[in-house]
Amino acid sequence: MTRILVTGGAGFIGTHVVAALHDAGHHVSVVDCGHPGAHREPLKDTVAGAPLHRVDLRDRAALAGVLAGIDVVVHQAAMVGLGVDLGDLPEYVGCNDLGTAVLLAEMARARIPRLVLASSMVVYGEGTYECPRHGPVRPAPRTVADLTAGRFDPTCTSCDAALAPGLVDEDTPLDPRSVYAATKVAQEHLAAAWARQTGGAVVALRYHNVYGPGMPRDTPYSGVAAIFRSALEAGRAPRVFEDGGQRRDFVHVRDVASANLAAVAATGTRGGFRAYNIASGRAATIGDLAAGLALASGGPAPVVTGEFRLGDVRHVVAAPARAAAELGFRAQVGLADGVAEFARAALRG
Ligand code: UD1
Repeated sequence: MTRILVTGGAGFIGTHVVAALHDAGHHVSVVDCGHPGAHREPLKDTVAGAPLHRVDLRDRAALAGVLAGIDVVVHQAAMVGLGVDLGDLPEYVGCNDLGTAVLLAEMARARIPRLVLASSMVVYGEGTYECPRHGPVRPAPRTVADLTAGRFDPTCTSCDAALAPGLVDEDTPLDPRSVYAATKVAQEHLAAAWARQTGGAVVALRYHNVYGPGMPRDTPYSGVAAIFRSALEAGRAPRVFEDGGQRRDFVHVRDVASANLAAVAATGTRGGFRAYNIASGRAATIGDLAAGLALASGGPAPVVTGEFRLGDVRHVVAAPARAAAELGFRAQVGLADGVAEFARAALRG
């Protein structure tokens, strides 16, 4: 039996991770600060039977107390999403990077050698693209002029030709394009430095777009699945930005929990830092997701608005092969089944 501390264990993904680790027979405890960006209601005393300690990771002394006797830390705690505006910047860096720095320092002090880090596909920026004439292309951020004119797809940096989107693998250069993305890249780099200096093991899981039961209701920090689901629950049509053709990889939260279970095992067998896409490996458009949720919930059909957000990337779809080969992880929940369940599942208040 391994003693595991899950940070952010009271959140959407964390709750499923705690349940999966507990069901697998591990001894699990949770730290969570109940951050108002993620929690509207007070925290309970337990998560899936595991004791919850209300601790902000930046509180060094309190963190040291809950780390005593732990074998593995599964670090899910973070502020996610695009946020409201740049006023959020210090809080993103404080929670995600200072919080991680304090966690790593205290793990080193307590001689805890194993870490699973929740990272994100946002570290890649745009996905990978292929030009028929120039081969692989890394497009620049889209301009306001292009977006306003409805030119949503990035074009070749050499000849302006249309590009074919491809699958992003873990060796794709990191190219964070939002504050949140920058904090996730920094977490990975800090964890890699920690692994080098301590001889410890880090498995970083680059989650693609996670959805499923227990997602928080619509907030400035919510992903698109929660926003669409909240709109439908309120009897409103989902509002699809751009032309709805932007592609993502939607992965079910129970699959993400299984990936964490596999990652915990992997930290026991290999050292150093290693990152993995955690995804289904199957592309879906945002328009398809909206239509599928509307149909399954019997709500109003989506409206394609043509609006855009400058921080958004166009397409990101994962190559899932490394996690399959090295962690034995393959997503099990199909999108049609997952969406049908999610359309009716409870959201978190
Ligand atoms: C999302 C998360 C990010 C997470 C990543 C991987 C947010 C804001 N983003 O990034 O934190 O790391 O998945 O799991 O949580 N859209 C609409 N209508 C809306 C809202 C969004 O059409 O009402 C579109 C956006 O324009 C975008 C797509 O949906 O094209 C996805 O948006 P979103 O889920 O917010 O961001 P991701 O970049 O996919």
